[in-house]
Amino acid sequence: MKLFDVYPINNINIVRAKDSYVWDENGVQYLDMYGGHAVISIGHTNAHWVSRIEAQLSKIAFYSNSIQIPIQQELADKLGEISRKENYHLFLCNSGAEANENALKLASFHTGRKKIIAFKKAFHGRTSLAVAATDNPSIIAPVNETGNIVFLTLNYEEALANYFNSNSNEIAAVIVEAIQGVGGIAEATDSFLNLIRSLCTKSGALFIADEVQCGYGRTGKFFATDHAGVDADIYSMAKGMGNGFPVGAILIAPYIKPRHGMLGTTFGGNHLACAAALAVLEVLESENLLQKANDNGKYLIKKLKEIKGIENVRGKGLMIGFDVPERLKDLRTNLLHKHKIFTGEAKPNVIRLLPSLAINRNEIDCFLDGLKIAIKELEEKVHVGAEF
Ligand SMILES: Cc1ncc(COP(=O)(O)O)c(C=O)c1O
Repeated sequence: MKLFDVYPINNINIVRAKDSYVWDENGVQYLDMYGGHAVISIGHTNAHWVSRIEAQLSKIAFYSNSIQIPIQQELADKLGEISRKENYHLFLCNSGAEANENALKLASFHTGRKKIIAFKKAFHGRTSLAVAATDNPSIIAPVNETGNIVFLTLNYEEALANYFNSNSNEIAAVIVEAIQGVGGIAEATDSFLNLIRSLCTKSGALFIADEVQCGYGRTGKFFATDHAGVDADIYSMAKGMGNGFPVGAILIAPYIKPRHGMLGTTFGGNHLACAAALAVLEVLESENLLQKANDNGKYLIKKLKEIKGIENVRGKGLMIGFDVPERLKDLRTNLLHKHKIFTGEAKPNVIRLLPSLAINRNEIDCFLDGLKIAIKELEEKVHVGAEF
């Protein structure tokens, strides 16, 4: 049987990983500035994470949600404390798309309304409603075209206010990434996020913060929306939550009451996933990784802005992007194959950096050195008219 071709990027076979590094089958070491797509929050195969999962595995890995699972409450308590959302309710699932799917369904149930406001270039996942709220025609099928989703322009306050004015009683929710990841590291302004909050409150719509990529400490605060000082009604999360173990969740404000049986999943919140997620929170706390992400992010952004050739450096914490001009279009490939550095992309011309929050200065400096050399190599090739 052939594998379904999901992301045909390259033929590198990664077989081992530790902290900010991965190794291929030939023992070649790569610096991971991509964090396995914003997933590796506390470092690959972090020792505490491994031992917590191993200890759990030897006791019990899974039993149905039809019995009480005390480690879920342990996770809820720790997550409530670190996120400062103690009064929210935690629903555990398996992925970011599933988290958003449930968030959107819940908002519609709670309000009795159907319309969802999403933003141009947003990415919320590949399940039915999540894909409908994603601004990417290549992943949508006709059945997902509900007609209930409207795409507005991020940070265009007047258009948002006008839409609310004309449709106030129909809007169930606004779903927003405080920093669009797939959309190319596009930041919602604090003022825009505060406007969403006030319009939702006034009209009875719910504010859904999609923190799947930008949350869980990645930007130097637990939630990226925390920078703007706003509270969402529902937070969705996944990626960094398990450091590679598949786990997702929504945090639901206490005034939202799902119908009994409305939210559920076989695997969500299983013992192993909870052990992995708890280990992540414990390491975020014990190693002060939010502060570290904040400090290292500022350093990295400052250094990137000094580099000639790349443009429009932006982001917060360790969620950083920059534009690559056409003449350097092979930069990412060069970084990977020649300098052994993984980075992320956002089409058409953005490089995304999403390393482990535990990355150290020395590793950041190695990346910066590699980047400068790669740019120089490409500039010289352009100069002499050679092909990379
Ligand atoms: C902001 C955002 N939301 C949702 C998702 C979907 O998450 P998953 O792939 O775990 O379903 C992603 C994935 O990239 C994402 O970046």
